[in-house]
Amino acid sequence: MNKLLSLKKICKSFGPVGVLKNVDFSLERGEVRALLGANGAGKSTLIKIIGGVIPQTSGEIELNGQPAQIVSPIDAQRKGISIIHQELSVIPQLTVLENFFLGREMTKNGVLDKKGMIQRYNEICSEMGFDIPWRVRVRELSIAKRQMVEIMKAVSCDSELIIMDEPTTSLTDNEKKNLFQIIHSLKAKNKTIIYISHMLEEVFEVCDNVTVMLGGEIVGNYPIGELDQHRIAELMAGETLAVGHDQHVSHADYSKTPVLEVKNLSHAGKFQDVSFTLYPGEILGFAGLVGAGRSEIVRSIFGADRCTDGEILLDGKPCAIHSPADAIRNGIGLIPEDRKTQGLVLKQEIYKNATILSLDAMKKNHMLNKKKELDYTEKAVEKLTIKVSDIQNRVRSLSGGNQQKIVVAKWLGKDLRVLIFDEPTKGIDVRAKEDIFSTAEQFAAKGVAVIFISSDLEEVLRVSDRIVMIHSGKLIKVRKNENLTVADLMNDILVKQTIEDGGAK
Ligand SMILES: Nc1ncnc2c1ncn2[C@@H]1O[C@H](COP(=O)(O)OP(=O)(O)OP(=O)(O)O)[C@@H](O)[C@H]1O
Ligand SMILES: [Mg+2]
Repeated sequence: MNKLLSLKKICKSFGPVGVLKNVDFSLERGEVRALLGANGAGKSTLIKIIGGVIPQTSGEIELNGQPAQIVSPIDAQRKGISIIHQELSVIPQLTVLENFFLGREMTKNGVLDKKGMIQRYNEICSEMGFDIPWRVRVRELSIAKRQMVEIMKAVSCDSELIIMDEPTTSLTDNEKKNLFQIIHSLKAKNKTIIYISHMLEEVFEVCDNVTVMLGGEIVGNYPIGELDQHRIAELMAGETLAVGHDQHVSHADYSKTPVLEVKNLSHAGKFQDVSFTLYPGEILGFAGLVGAGRSEIVRSIFGADRCTDGEILLDGKPCAIHSPADAIRNGIGLIPEDRKTQGLVLKQEIYKNATILSLDAMKKNHMLNKKKELDYTEKAVEKLTIKVSDIQNRVRSLSGGNQQKIVVAKWLGKDLRVLIFDEPTKGIDVRAKEDIFSTAEQFAAKGVAVIFISSDLEEVLRVSDRIVMIHSGKLIKVRKNENLTVADLMNDILVKQTIEDGGAK
């Protein structure tokens, strides 16, 4: 027995709200431990205590068998603990190099050793198989690249314990493979890892043991071999679940005029000659690898990015969309991929965020009416089963997955023609994903045309009437979702093919 960390009766409250209740948790040196639980179960709170980000309300921590107080993130780092945070902590204005060495700059003869730092950074990049130039400002990087910088930074500290809170949400399959290799090599060096994820396949790939949390308490600790995905979902939910998930119910009406026609849309360097048609009540899945151009295409339809060529028709009529405001006025909505920068104002109250797109409907005698705003938000909270103690708290106080649901809640009150979901289930727990799928289906049932993007092909198959395959900025195939499997989609995406049958319907 070689115990690295031991938490004893840890409790955490935010004001009157108890979030962690008597948590006992211990780690052996050299193990990879999954920490699982539904959105809001307390996972991030627990690891923030271990990482010195927030103090526990009561309870003891032991490191290497000795009582320890971890008073700040820097203190945690000195004690050999690094965290890859769920909400990335890199600073956008600084370069990759500056972020990488922040607070631990290398010096030579008392001055900053930039050359040394560049060399060390490049070594780590090539060791880990990531390719990110050191001089770029982080704000110019995609979310995936920011996530990689964060991973490299944590791993390069040579810590004994590395905590990863949903590290793969933006990574491509190749980048995930890199990360798993890194985890294997860390383990070979007897390092210890806590791995938080809602992607259970990943957990089976890299973890030795599993701890499940429910409502701020530990349900139990299990060797991975004793569990399967279904059992984990049951432990997370605290009840026995029926096997399988709901079937998709189609509301598509192909006899009507298409709601949306996209013709030869192009954006130099991003996507080319994209054409498809979307009917009332139809859900069109977008399948493709991360980086295939799916987000870029829908951002152009929403007016958030310019396109260089092409035409968009709404209800059969040409429609000029130059900005998101134009799009919203025309009844086109987008639930964006990156909630932190595009979806939410974290400093504002939950109800303010939820109602921001529906302010006209929240007025009484031309004045914003708080009661209306609160009512709207309460309904959304119930519909999407959002875990929240008080909707007048700031959005920042919600768990990651529940923040994502607020982004969806913003659109519930809008009268829409088209709604685009871009990776809406990122960070959403296994069970709550069904809430998102059924929300998409409820919009479709009202005649709204829906585009659904997900890197998880199972999800695309679960909700779509038809599926378009996108590869390197080109739409390569459109298929009806009949008897299709993940393998079929993978095959289409990986084996480039030219459009068959003249494209979309
Ligand atoms: N600063 C805060 N103020 C008030 N409540 C908070 C605060 N931080 C977290 N909470 C609450 O603590 C609970 C646990 O949140 P936590 O972020 O630990 O969940 P999680 O298990 O990481 O969920 P997710 O899978 O969605 O990331 C949530 O109900 C959340 O609203
Ligand atoms: Mg979390």
